[in-house]
Amino acid sequence: RPTLRVALLGAGTVGSEVLRLMRIHGEELTHRIGARLEVIGVAVRDLDRDRGEHVDPSLLTTDAESLVTQADLVIEVMGGIERARSLILSALESGASVVTANKALLAQDGATLYEAADRHGVDLSFEAAVAGAIPLVRPIRESLAGDRIQRVMGIVNGTTNFVLDAMTRTGADQAEVVARAQELGYAEADPTADVEGYDAAAKASILASLAFHTRVGLGDVHREGITEVTAEDIAAARRMGRTIKLLSIVERIVDGDEERVSARVYPAMIPDSHPLASVSEAYNAVFVEAEAAGSLMFYGQGAGGTPTASAVLGDVVGVARQRVHGGYGPRESAYAELPIAGIGDL
Ligand code: NDP
Ligand code: HSE
Repeated sequence: RPTLRVALLGAGTVGSEVLRLMRIHGEELTHRIGARLEVIGVAVRDLDRDRGEHVDPSLLTTDAESLVTQADLVIEVMGGIERARSLILSALESGASVVTANKALLAQDGATLYEAADRHGVDLSFEAAVAGAIPLVRPIRESLAGDRIQRVMGIVNGTTNFVLDAMTRTGADQAEVVARAQELGYAEADPTADVEGYDAAAKASILASLAFHTRVGLGDVHREGITEVTAEDIAAARRMGRTIKLLSIVERIVDGDEERVSARVYPAMIPDSHPLASVSEAYNAVFVEAEAAGSLMFYGQGAGGTPTASAVLGDVVGVARQRVHGGYGPRESAYAELPIAGIGDL
């Protein structure tokens, strides 16, 4: 079988889980792709940090620049803007396919990255950048490409949902719960990005650009975070049979012959009977409303290392199959010989 050389940029919350899943499911991934994935290096800042049994210390490097130019496939899960952008561009320019979870970068400068990927004829995939494990980018980009999306609305930030949920259930203080969300690996390196709504706004900008086939920048998104939401606000909402959630809404506004796009992120009071009101912990839920398909609901774990690594690896399999076979890959190799359970076994 052919071998694809994989460079991993970042071995933190997400990167370390990507490595763990690649290691424990390596053989299955080889079958599904029809090629072997060989991790040739893992770029980090601190070579001395203990990273557990799934990260081979001999693969660690601080020389990300030379690593990306030796790879067929680069997984960027380091975050940040300038260095991540320059590494992704070098990777694309040297002909590598790229998988990234970096919503902040995509919202700020996705156009430059897409243009470079197109110019060099390689894939740039980013399912993990919006709503963690939930398949949302691909359904909007591909499954609904023949339809006309009117609105995408829901909860796309796990940290703020975790914080608001804990404040609602236990009356906990916001700062204390944000610290817990950091410990659990839900929050961004700087959690201000979560609580001030920047992360949700970045995701709204990506969703709006995909859904409406237009460019919606971060500055085009109206943004309010949850820092002003107090325990008293939550208690008042409860008395009215409502729950406070950080909503992201992107929609097509039709005014006569004119169409515009609106994108906004703000804390809203939702009736307890609405499905979004019962979304707890760091889960996300998103409604996509399309002209022909009607209303579709997507729900699942929106943050955290393992769920996000699932989305990253889905992209890895997709771009690897594309590189090796120009599509889905050898279907016969996708089937394992598993016995069929009888109804009595259940
Ligand atoms: P972490 O902070 O846990 O990990 C970042 C990793 O990248 C660390 O290993 C760090 O090295 C390395 N790194 C950071 N800057 C550099 C640099 N300049 N050069 C080399 N290595 C660097 O972040 P996460 O894993 O939580 O997030 C990574 C990305 O995934 C971000 O873009 C984030 O927005 C995105 N994401 C995160 C989700 C989550 O739930 N955590 C969900 C969806 C997306 P070192 O270990 O040495 O410090
Ligand atoms: N900090 C982000 C969140 C990670 O809490 O939703 C997932 O994108």
